[in-house]
Amino acid sequence: MPLWFKDAIFYEVYIRAFADGNGDGHGDFRGLTAKLDYFKELGVDCLWLQPMYASPLKDDGYDISDYYRIHPDYGTLDDFKTFLAEAHARGLRVIADLVLNHTSDQHPWFQAARASRASPYRDYYVWSDTDQKYKDARIIFLDIEKSNWAWDELAGQYYWHRFYACQPDLNYDHPAVRREMLNVIRFWLDLGLDGFRADAAPYLFEREGTNCENLPETHAYLKEIRRFMDDHYPGRILLAEANQWPLDVRPYFGDGDPSTGSGQAEFHMAFHFPVMPRIFMALAQADRTKIVETLRATGRLSIPENCQWGPFLRNHDELTLEMVTPEEREFMWRTYAPEPRMRLNLGIRRRLAPLLDGDRRKLELAFAILLSLPGSPILYYGDEIGMGDNIWLDDRDGLRTPMQWDAGPNAGFSGRDVPSERLYAPLIDDERYGYRRVNVAIERADPNSLWHTVRRMIAVRKQNRAFGRGRHEFLPLKNRAVLAIVHTYNGETFLTLNNLSPSPQRLSPTLRQWKGARVRGLLTGREFPPVTGKPYALTLQPYEYFWLKLDRPTSTGPGAASS
Ligand code: GLC
Repeated sequence: MPLWFKDAIFYEVYIRAFADGNGDGHGDFRGLTAKLDYFKELGVDCLWLQPMYASPLKDDGYDISDYYRIHPDYGTLDDFKTFLAEAHARGLRVIADLVLNHTSDQHPWFQAARASRASPYRDYYVWSDTDQKYKDARIIFLDIEKSNWAWDELAGQYYWHRFYACQPDLNYDHPAVRREMLNVIRFWLDLGLDGFRADAAPYLFEREGTNCENLPETHAYLKEIRRFMDDHYPGRILLAEANQWPLDVRPYFGDGDPSTGSGQAEFHMAFHFPVMPRIFMALAQADRTKIVETLRATGRLSIPENCQWGPFLRNHDELTLEMVTPEEREFMWRTYAPEPRMRLNLGIRRRLAPLLDGDRRKLELAFAILLSLPGSPILYYGDEIGMGDNIWLDDRDGLRTPMQWDAGPNAGFSGRDVPSERLYAPLIDDERYGYRRVNVAIERADPNSLWHTVRRMIAVRKQNRAFGRGRHEFLPLKNRAVLAIVHTYNGETFLTLNNLSPSPQRLSPTLRQWKGARVRGLLTGREFPPVTGKPYALTLQPYEYFWLKLDRPTSTGPGAASS
């Protein structure tokens, strides 16, 4: 089974926000197709498309009313096929959201289910005469929902929903539901899709007396999906959205390696939810401890060789603070969400650049960390140019505004003549992050821009497989303001250093085990003095980062000197 995803750079695309190909003010597949070269230029290998299916859009498409149709705002199935063919022609892969846990209440299954107890679809959902069952399940959309049960007048019963009330949970105890979802999976994989990001994976089954998350039944069904994919579509992948503690994320990888026939595999990849908020904490506290502890915890629960973590900084949702202690949450809110409007549910509705005060040094450092953590990094559209947000828009809409392509009318997102009121959401137009200042055209033209810096980091990362495949160990520096990771792979050694603090940091590690090694900065080409075995003096400027290659003369031979 090809492990392409272990070296890949992922990029999350909100289709509506990316590029409008027909001038109706909404991004679509035609627009996205026209932008495919952009991803190549940046060095992206795989796009993750947010839901593209028919939907009343009460939760931006995570409320699906027909799994087999493309949302008309995004185009037609033919537009999708053209897009996919064009992406594949460029060597890009594409995965899409697979919303397993729930449908829209407008889905014909739910409409039939609520209309009659005799309907064959009744049992597709979870009904009850009381709203007192499964009391131990937390409420996720806390700011809006007061219960996971909603009363349905027509049905004369309550139905179960882990997200918005307009998203009734499917009943995975029903074999027909399990079959339906395999059909959905087959349909899109037959069209050539390279896999799925499985939305809300932990919540498929409910059992009394549990918190209804990560249940053995849920894992068993996810393994069934994986088996189905391995049998019929080898090389396609499953990426888990399982926002859980390290101990509970680990089981989503399963135990097996299908190529050896041992154990039972589950997901190829899982987002590294545990480390994400801790990167922000580490930056705010100038202390690497939380990152190291979390990576150690997840590293101890080591994942199978054929699996990969998916680290990320931001995505289309609020920066989740569900899996942190109450004290950590308070700290994060105080530091990163001083205005009440910046908070949403148990999280923070802000984009990367505003979170980091638009400070170029911190932004670069955040990308340097993301791109050097164990795993295959996942970028969120617009963060590579330092786009801003609009906390005054509803729900999470302020993180999903139109991509800023240039300083022209409609930021180049839609036609020049399209009235701006027609855009699905207002452009970011403030002084600091507005499209006139922050856009792809300006950054592409400036070799020193954030965009170019990120592009170069991606390129360097891709030339060195140790980043995606290597062993990663922490250098136990006394100075906790510096995060230092040693990456080794196939006899090659890299050392990445990150100064998390606003002041210069002096280091003098011995690096004894690399005595005699030549030291070269991968991002700058700068030559450092060789390692002598005596304390190796290094100074990192505020928020500075180094990616160093350590070439040991004995193991690499003279030919390596020119590499
Ligand atoms: C996931 C998505 C989020 C959505 C929810 C319900 O958490 O990331 O955007 O609202 O699932 O489908």
